[in-house]
Order: sequence, then C-alpha cells, then structure tokens
Amino acid sequence: MAYQNLISEIKENILYITINREKALNALNKDTLAELADVIAFAGKNDEVRGVILTGAGEKAFVAGADIKEFSDYNGKQGEDLAKRGHELVFNAIENSSKPFIAAINGFALGGGLELAMACHIRIASDHAKLGLPEVTLGLIPGYGGTQRLTQLVGKGRAIEMITTANMITASDAEKIGLVNYVVPQPDLISKAEEMLNVIKKRAPLAVSAAIKSVIAAVNNNNGYATEIEEFGKCFETADFKEGVNAFVEKRKANFSGK
Ligand code: HXC
Repeated sequence: MAYQNLISEIKENILYITINREKALNALNKDTLAELADVIAFAGKNDEVRGVILTGAGEKAFVAGADIKEFSDYNGKQGEDLAKRGHELVFNAIENSSKPFIAAINGFALGGGLELAMACHIRIASDHAKLGLPEVTLGLIPGYGGTQRLTQLVGKGRAIEMITTANMITASDAEKIGLVNYVVPQPDLISKAEEMLNVIKKRAPLAVSAAIKSVIAAVNNNNGYATEIEEFGKCFETADFKEGVNAFVEKRKANFSGK
C-alpha cells in the first residue's frame, strides 16, 4: 500500500502503520486521516493481518494533534463535520476493528494524537513521551472522542483535570493512572508491542475479536453483558473452538485457523 503520509507494511502477520509527517510532528491533516481510514479498513478485511502497531515517525512525536493550520478558519458546522468524519472513519473504526491495535507512543501524543492512541486497544509509551489534551488552549474541546475515552480510561476526576488544565503528563504518570499499559525505553518500544502481539497471535483470532468487542461494549454503554453472551455463544460455532478443546485433550499446542 503506497501512501503519502503513512508508511505501512506487513511483517509476520503484524501490520505496522507509521504516521509520517515528521516535520509537522505527525499532525493529522485531512489527507492523513483519509489514508488512515483506508489502512484501518484494510487491516479489518485482510486475513494476513493479526494485529496492528500504530506509531509516529521520528522520536519527537507520536502525533501532536489534528492539524491546527487546516481548521483555523472553520465554522461550527465544519468543525462538527470534521469531528464526525474522524469518529466514524478513523477513531471508532480502530476501536471497533476485528484486529487488535497497539499504539506505540514514541513522543508527544497531544489532542487528536492522544485521542488516536486512546482509540487503540492497548497503549505502550516510550519513557520520554508526553501526553495531553491541550484543546482548551485553542478555545476548543477534544473532538475525536477524547472526553469519552479519557474518562473511560482514567475516571472522571482525572479526565476533567487533564482536559481543563490542558497540562501534559509524563509517560510514567500516564502509566500510574492507567492511561498507558507500559512504559519502556524508546529503543524497546516497537519490540514491546511486537512481544504483546506475538502472544495474542497464538490465540484464536475470532475469540480475540469477540473478546475485544465485548470489552468495548462495556465501556460504550452498549449492552455489554448481552454482547458477551452472544459472542460467547458464537465462539462455539468456530472451528478454532473445536481445535482449542482437542488440543487441550490431546496435550498439544493448538493450531488455530481463524475459522
Ligand atoms: C499543525 C503542528 C502541530 C499541529 C506541531 N506542528 N503541532 N502543525 N498542527 N497540531 C508543527 C509546528 O507548527 C511546527 O511547524 C512543527 O510542527 C514543529 O513544532 P514546534 O511547535 O516548532 O515544536 P516545539 O517547539 O518543540 O513544540 C512541540 C509541541 C508544539 C509542544 C508539540 O508543537 C505544540 O504545542 N503543538 C500543538 C499541540 C496541540 O495543540 N494539539 C492539539 C491540536 S487540536 P513549522 O512549520 O512552524 O516548523 C486537536 C483537536 C482534535 O487535536 C479534534 C479535532 C476534531
């Protein structure tokens, strides 16, 4: 897949997506969002892809937010459309993807950048990363799901503090409040994400998707218990359920087909 603002490649069933606008600190302009929408849809459909690692080019920024220069003359309707399109095509599309997404936060994750990381299923941060939602410094609020996903991840009190002060926090503080799963030295960032996906890759793919879907249903007030019951039932119809049980009985490792 050839993109202008992204580098994407598949290696050993992992799709690596690197947002590649290093000079603008990987800020999300319209073109980058459109390319992200495309590659996210591709990840969902492609059987070779068993997990995704999303990161930013360079060592300074993961993503420094939406491209401020692009929306500087927007009116209310344009602002609302910008947020709505982003939610549907990128942020919700990641969260609802059948593939696990890990954000490898290699530097500043601000505004739409932190929102992008929060849409991913797991976050790993480099020890020099800084995270924040600085929108109120621009007279805005987070518009790519940040008010909701930050609240889900860290609770109402800390979310309101981070959003209303606009203060950035360190990776280590982000780990303490549950905003990121792990903090590692920068050189180990991608390998830590690979280590996690390599474990997930050994598990039954449809069960992994069903588990993510059920957890997401819990945090999105989407009838989580009913979703879990339905997804649990569907697992029994899969070939991988039979393989998993047979492998257990035969005392061997399961060889899952994703069917
Ligand atoms: C456009 C950006 C940008 C952004 C950085 N750049 N962030 N361009 N949009 N969000 C550009 C700068 O203009 C500059 O380009 C280059 O990247 C380097 O940035 P500097 O500011 O010179 O670097 P530094 O002094 O080291 O400061 C780093 C920084 C700062 C603290 C990360 O860049 C910053 O505060 N950026 C904005 C962060 C922000 O407010 N994000 C939220 C955006 S609103 P030039 O050409 O001058 O060299 C948002 C809303 C989401 O995300 C919801 C939408 C629906």
